[in-house]
Amino acid sequence: MKIALILGTRPEIIKMAPVITELERKRIKYFIIHSGQHYSYNLDKIFFRQLSLPRPDYKLDVGSTSSGEQTGLIISRVEKILKKDRPELVLVQGDTNTVLGGAIAAKKLGIPVGHIEAGLRSYDERMPEELNRKLTDHCSDFLFVPTIKSRDILLREGISKKKIFLTGNTIVDSVKWNINEINNSKKFKTMPKKYFLVSLHRQENVDNSKRFKNIVNGLKKIKKEYMIPIIFPIHPRSKKMAKKYKIDFKGIDIIAPIDYLRFLHLEKNAFLILTDSGGVQEESCILKVPCVTLRDNTERPETIEVGSNIIAGDNPEKILLCVNKMLKQKRNWVNPFGDGNAASKIIKIIQNKI
Ligand code: UD1
Ligand code: UDP
Repeated sequence: MKIALILGTRPEIIKMAPVITELERKRIKYFIIHSGQHYSYNLDKIFFRQLSLPRPDYKLDVGSTSSGEQTGLIISRVEKILKKDRPELVLVQGDTNTVLGGAIAAKKLGIPVGHIEAGLRSYDERMPEELNRKLTDHCSDFLFVPTIKSRDILLREGISKKKIFLTGNTIVDSVKWNINEINNSKKFKTMPKKYFLVSLHRQENVDNSKRFKNIVNGLKKIKKEYMIPIIFPIHPRSKKMAKKYKIDFKGIDIIAPIDYLRFLHLEKNAFLILTDSGGVQEESCILKVPCVTLRDNTERPETIEVGSNIIAGDNPEKILLCVNKMLKQKRNWVNPFGDGNAASKIIKIIQNKI
């Protein structure tokens, strides 16, 4: 058996890492195709190095271009590789253009597709990710869902229950392994919970000047009220758009994107996290740090239900109110994303079925 893993962005590398490690452990043949959707050192190589992942076997170097062109380039370049080096299964993870492009290329060649983190829905058609998830789910043969909610979404959409497997989310595996590393390392000291941590990069937020400015005004209100640092490792998309819209970050500590261990360490010790990231909503829930989501919806409703997260949108007053509310919340919720053995469950299912 030979498996192809297709990835290309920061969250895919982090969430595929446990799957790669499991394939290595079980000595199953695999190869990695990297789309090149992310290419800056601190969005890409930094994670391969830190998580001790093997170099990708194929690099497609699609780079940054329009969404349609990027997806098209991924389809045609992945197809060429899969024709030469045909695996029994292609695995993709998440909801990026890399995921959709990889899934379409494989499916058109008659190669079965496994979608890790299937069944998430925001029901927000403005998001490119929503289209990517839906289309990928509907052309996949193995749908590895993180929660019962995601399984039920797929069943309601008419996907056969024979194709759906409840495994939990591999982000729990990643957090557990790397938090252990942090706890055992002298490099990471315990820090007082005296800062807010921010991550913001969604297209519908930062490519919209009004929403981006509103959110930054919300952050400034928090700073005024709580008088503690607001640390914001800024994604390159947000940096580019902030320059274009002349956004003033006065009072906010903007830093470059950081490696996974440093980011997890910052998350773990944060007073509260404000984010529009999918992975960060999950990690804050797993790490028992309250989260305020800077969006109008979430495809991770489990976090709202357990009480780790709240939807604030982009209204500055509402953002502050949500922060105040979440800080009063007890941190005794239960992580709904699984027990940290998702990768081994996924590989076991694949071994049984293929
Ligand atoms: C992509 C995914 C998003 C995911 C995010 C993770 C899609 C549609 N979007 O968004 O779902 O949450 O990755 O971070 O697939 N850039 C760099 N260096 C890089 C990559 C990008 O400077 O290595 C800049 C470029 O100016 C580029 C912009 O960031 O135009 C956006 O990059 P892109 O990959 O298109 O989307 P993301 O916002 O990163
Ligand atoms: N992350 C990181 N360094 C940073 C910011 C985020 O390592 O400076 C990690 C974070 O811990 C999470 C993942 O990147 O695991 C989330 O990626 P992102 O927010 O880019 O994408 P999304 O999850 O929204 O698709």
